Amino acid sequence: MSDNGSKQHKRVFSGVQPSGNLTIGNYLGALKQWAREQHNFESFFCVVDLHAITVPYDPADLRAKTREVAALYLACGIDPDISTVFVQSHVRAHSELTWLLNGITPLGWLNRMTQFKDKAAKQQADSVSTGLLDYPVLMAADILLYQTDAVPVGDDQRQHLELTRDVAQRFNHMFGETFTIPAAMIPPSGARIKGLDDPTAKMSKSITDSEYHAVYLLDPPNRIKKKIMRAVTDSGREIAFSDDPERAGVNNLLEIFQAFQGGTKEEVEAHFANARGYGDLKKEVVEVVTEGLKPIQQKYAELTTDAGYIDNLLADHAARAAEVANPTLELVQERMGFLKARR
Ligand code: TRP
Repeated sequence: MSDNGSKQHKRVFSGVQPSGNLTIGNYLGALKQWAREQHNFESFFCVVDLHAITVPYDPADLRAKTREVAALYLACGIDPDISTVFVQSHVRAHSELTWLLNGITPLGWLNRMTQFKDKAAKQQADSVSTGLLDYPVLMAADILLYQTDAVPVGDDQRQHLELTRDVAQRFNHMFGETFTIPAAMIPPSGARIKGLDDPTAKMSKSITDSEYHAVYLLDPPNRIKKKIMRAVTDSGREIAFSDDPERAGVNNLLEIFQAFQGGTKEEVEAHFANARGYGDLKKEVVEVVTEGLKPIQQKYAELTTDAGYIDNLLADHAARAAEVANPTLELVQERMGFLKARR
């Protein structure tokens, strides 16, 4: 019984932490794809607030960002009539299943996670939280609660997905078939936008040292312009796609242009054939990004004028999510040998 009975379409689950600011990288690499694919799957898009407390954070900021990320999901085209958009902590089963899965997850599996090692290395050893180590088990709980078939995530989450599959298989082996084994859905590498200040690294939404690292989805036009005009390029002048790390900056700007404007790589290169230099390229990138974000920003403004709209929607959708998650949790409890509480 790896299917809880009511699945019409294959299920998708994904999530973003409500920390930092969502960037055009999140949009092009994730949200835009989710919105496009939502018709082909039964989708659950979660704001993973429980994950956000595994590193130092500010409570007021967490609350504000949780609403903001939920509203941005919708502003980017996720349709609440089709997909379930909810906050992780609103569905208690996420925390509870994490604890149950902790019981069967070998510590060695967690100690090996490269994201844990990277994040832990950035903090003082004695302030790294237990939650940071346990992060992948919470992520496994997220995915497994919904009997998820496919998980659209970036390449950096591949290892966490493998761990999720390993945990699910281990559980099924120990207690009988219970969980669907999920597959990762990793977008093609072209969908990976790089930092404007460092075009060899993935564009990140966590606030980095540089103000000019990423264009945020809610940046006003003057900020978009400033950031893009300062993007790192090279000393040449040829405007062409390239795998050469030396020319990663120009390549990244072209990828951004193409993602917003459409067209093939050849068409994009032909479009810039008569440009006088990188300044011209940057101006056009500013233009397409500003225009591309305008409808998202307008939608965001509409969705957030009525302060209660998002909160009400999140309450409805948490109830919808719980209807799927709770039966899985109950099945797990039963399989693991917990005495059922009398009602
Ligand atoms: N760890 C993911 C990231 O940083 C976020 C996440 C948490 C997630 N739970 C998830 C993604 C479940 C997909 C499915 O991107």
